[in-house]
Amino acid sequence: MNLSEDFWDDRYKNKDIGWDLGEISAPLKAYFDQLTNKDLKILIPGGGNSYEAEYLHHQGFKNIYVVDLSKTALNNIKRRVPSFPSAHLIQQNFFDLEMSFDFLIEQTFFCALNPALRPAYSSKASELLNKNGLIVGLLFDIPLNSDKPPFGGE
Ligand SMILES: C[S@@+](CC[C@H](N)C(=O)[O-])C[C@H]1O[C@@H](n2cnc3c(N)ncnc32)[C@H](O)[C@@H]1O
Repeated sequence: MNLSEDFWDDRYKNKDIGWDLGEISAPLKAYFDQLTNKDLKILIPGGGNSYEAEYLHHQGFKNIYVVDLSKTALNNIKRRVPSFPSAHLIQQNFFDLEMSFDFLIEQTFFCALNPALRPAYSSKASELLNKNGLIVGLLFDIPLNSDKPPFGGE
């Protein structure tokens, strides 16, 4: 099962977004707070309402990008943070993105992907990351669902 753009967009339209913390994830805030290089190029795939992107932007990071299938989610951050560069809010499939980054940030995107896509996620992440680039974020290490997100891991 590959979940469509409409599936995700409807979830935002209907505010059926149980995963949404309404604020930056605390462990990611702690990680970001010890970064000193504000020029780092950072991608937040499946960023949704993008509180992490908002936080980094307000901390003076210049190269923050979000890619998400949901137009509604991206419009939400545009409305909330008008100064966020709209060219950095990309409505596209993560797997079709062709750019390069120092960090990919993970917060409930990986668990939203069909586990059959994990090898593709791994190669795409490797392709998008610069040499010494990192995936930084939170991943479930419990089984969770097998037929719909969130899919677990170990
Ligand atoms: C569970 S939500 C998490 C959103 C956000 N990271 C958060 O924690 O609130 C998963 C997000 O990934 C997006 N998404 C799912 N598959 C995608 C894909 N292939 N490419 C880009 N975005 C995708 C959805 O639109 C949704 O915003």
